[in-house]
Amino acid sequence: MLKIGLLGVGAIGRTIATAIDQKKLDAELVALSDQDRARAEALSSDLSNRPPVVSIEEMIERCDLAVEAASQAALAEFVPKALARGRDVLIMSVGGLLGREEWFHEAEKKGCRIYVPSGAIAGLDGIKSASIGRIESAELTSRKPVAALRGSKYVVDRGIQLENLKQDTVIFEGLAEEAARAFPATSNVAASLRLAVNPSAPVRVRIVAVPGGSENVHEIHVQGEFGKLSVKVENVPSKSNPRTSQLAAFSAIATLKNLTRSLRVGT
Ligand SMILES: NC(=O)c1ccc[n+]([C@@H]2O[C@H](COP(=O)([O-])OP(=O)(O)OC[C@H]3O[C@@H](n4cnc5c(N)ncnc54)[C@H](O)[C@@H]3O)[C@@H](O)[C@H]2O)c1
Repeated sequence: MLKIGLLGVGAIGRTIATAIDQKKLDAELVALSDQDRARAEALSSDLSNRPPVVSIEEMIERCDLAVEAASQAALAEFVPKALARGRDVLIMSVGGLLGREEWFHEAEKKGCRIYVPSGAIAGLDGIKSASIGRIESAELTSRKPVAALRGSKYVVDRGIQLENLKQDTVIFEGLAEEAARAFPATSNVAASLRLAVNPSAPVRVRIVAVPGGSENVHEIHVQGEFGKLSVKVENVPSKSNPRTSQLAAFSAIATLKNLTRSLRVGT
């Protein structure tokens, strides 16, 4: 049975832990780690096997696969330690992977896998297939409720008055790499798209603040040698974190399920 360690017990981590506890996949949760120890203890006591709350190092030691559902900032410590110990990792804070080619090389050297679930979007299967050929353009428009953008460094630094907005307003336009830096907590989708699209094609991102909105809506358009692809996902936010879509946690669970199954559907 796959032994899973979990870093981060917030909206996504709790959903993953609960799915394992409810035996929705053939895996065992062997350790939890979080900078908020009390939160991790509280989750552990809600689970039937009461996984121990331990340091990052100890969690890595105990598992076969370490799941990160913490923050971009956590990756700098977590990824090198996990790879050094030869562990496979599943990463939710995808923005923190951009520009970290040294981690990809280290994973290859050690024979480790870095899994990046589709997160809050769909269509990465088709986009990966399309990227075998030439891609002419790739665009993402993310429409986010004000609650999901409030307090973002980019918004604060530019003095954007989200509460005064009367209509949908484009607050960011740029490359996926820039979006991941500007909105570390909310642009993992842009980073996942960047990793899936053929590296020779730029990925353009637009972020729209929606006053009174409640869903995180992502629209992707890709054009290339294969033809055209358009995908729109209207995401219900997680109850405990308005920045995070329910689908993101479900995508991590689906990725873990894939690993423990002999039949794998989709590219
Ligand atoms: N890939 C995607 O599409 C996608 C979608 C939504 C969220 N995310 C990302 O997934 C991550 C988790 O999201 P969430 O909604 O569960 O967040 P959350 O804020 O609800 O929970 C994060 C948990 O991680 C812990 N944590 C944060 N930094 C840490 C560190 N350096 N060391 C140890 N623990 C740390 C926090 O204490 C908290 O308990 C975030 O980085 C988020 O941006 C990715």
